Amino acid sequence: MLELKNLNVKIDNKKILNDFSLKINKGEIHAIMGPNGVGKSTLSSVIMGNPKFLVESGDIVFKGESIKEDSVDLRAKKGIFLAMQYPSEIDGVSNLQFLKAIINSENGKSVPIFELYKKIEAEKENLNMPDDYLRRSVNLGFSGGEKKRNEIIQMKMLNPKLIILDEIDSGLDVDSLKTVCKEINDYKNNDVSILIITHYPKVLEYIKPDFVHLMKNGNISKTGDSSLAYEIEEKGYQDE
Ligand SMILES: Nc1ncnc2c1ncn2[C@@H]1O[C@H](COP(=O)(O)OP(=O)(O)O)[C@@H](O)[C@H]1O
Ligand SMILES: [Mg+2]
Repeated sequence: MLELKNLNVKIDNKKILNDFSLKINKGEIHAIMGPNGVGKSTLSSVIMGNPKFLVESGDIVFKGESIKEDSVDLRAKKGIFLAMQYPSEIDGVSNLQFLKAIINSENGKSVPIFELYKKIEAEKENLNMPDDYLRRSVNLGFSGGEKKRNEIIQMKMLNPKLIILDEIDSGLDVDSLKTVCKEINDYKNNDVSILIITHYPKVLEYIKPDFVHLMKNGNISKTGDSSLAYEIEEKGYQDE
């Protein structure tokens, strides 16, 4: 599904990713853990194609093809979705307009309004969004948890094959965390891979990873199964 080959990445002349390699097969769930500032969000931005980051060398291969030169929207169209750590607010664009654009683009045609509403209303219910959700601007004035839940609604409209969750658990209360994880687990099948970035092992109780990687100095310092997450909870990142 995804292969990162020896990525070296800089921002503002500061090296963030250092010869970073990772392979995620179809259907696998990988977790990346690591302390603040280690480069986890940088990694997710680089996979998605944020032009702020300079990829000096290495390659990003998705479904057997290099996507290193592809724009963000093309990567999204090919099936990569990033639920961002800090989702943006888009003043003046309603959630309805935004989701309509997403659904029409994903379907390659204008989907009838009734069908569109049905789809969006179902997800709005599933993710407990406020009543005025559809007419409000994207994420404007949303609570941290609402912003994260909105990412999941967008995810479901886009039908991605590779889902990157950058601290989806931060800002979510226990009930919201359960709801979000249930939606992700319901969506997940053998054709879908997940990369879940987190500080805390709690979320990994709901979305069970096949592999847990520990990040240090812009690279993976240790790989294990889910027990590694609990080891980190106990010992902290210091000893690693
Ligand atoms: N836009 C940016 N400009 C300058 N430095 C940045 C920028 N984005 C990230 N960094 C730096 O890159 C490092 C890694 O950040 P980040 O990938 O967000 O870490 P993490 O998600 O693991 O907490 C940090 O030192 C951060 O300050
Ligand atoms: Mg981060």
